[in-house]
Amino acid sequence: MNAADNRLVLALPKGRILEEAMPLVRAAGIEPEPAFDDPKSRKLRFATSLPHVDIIRVRSFDVATFVAFGAAHLGICGNDVLMEFNYAEVYAPLDLGIGSCRLSVAEPNELAESDDPRRWSHIRIATKYPEVTRRHFAERGVQAECVKLNGAMELAPSLGLAARIVDLVSSGGTLVANGLKEVEVIAQVTSRLIVNRAALKVRPEEMTQWIDRFRDACGDRHAA
Ligand code: PRP
Repeated sequence: MNAADNRLVLALPKGRILEEAMPLVRAAGIEPEPAFDDPKSRKLRFATSLPHVDIIRVRSFDVATFVAFGAAHLGICGNDVLMEFNYAEVYAPLDLGIGSCRLSVAEPNELAESDDPRRWSHIRIATKYPEVTRRHFAERGVQAECVKLNGAMELAPSLGLAARIVDLVSSGGTLVANGLKEVEVIAQVTSRLIVNRAALKVRPEEMTQWIDRFRDACGDRHAA
């Protein structure tokens, strides 16, 4: 383990999922220090109501990386991120049932009118998910040339960067606002509790207890 001391480190994703994740984190018995909810605070690591548990707040892609390398013991991230990295050291025992969306292929409305995805042989795609995208299309013999972006993929078709995109779709509002149509779903996405496998071996009782606590927290939530 690389964790600086013996404290348990829980990695949480910034952004939309955090709002849905916090009721579960709190129901699992972890209350972050006030700075966590202070938008002016520049802290990245937070103490909690439990003296042996800290929270770090990072980008969702980085949650998986911190956990894979043992820098964090536990984390919450979407299966979109897990699919992209495919880290052997990350164990995902629990679907938290939050952050529901899908990973989809989209293209401009005009293109979609006459396009037939079954006839694609080589396509260029702007995406944050080059590995998932390449794998998905390779399975049916289509070569996907991916242009990696970290956000605002929806701009790529109108500016000539790539005719198609692969991105997360939730309400579909961002696609509509940018003149794009969803033409294929690659995967359904929800957020998972993830655990570093080495931590599970070295601290089995503690890690199992946290998995159970989050499982119970999900149960409470579904019953509410
Ligand atoms: C995600 C995604 C889309 C948008 C889809 O971005 O990348 O842009 O949400 O949501 P919708 O279907 O409800 O419109 P997000 O706002 O999470 O920010 P990001 O680009 O930083 O990932």
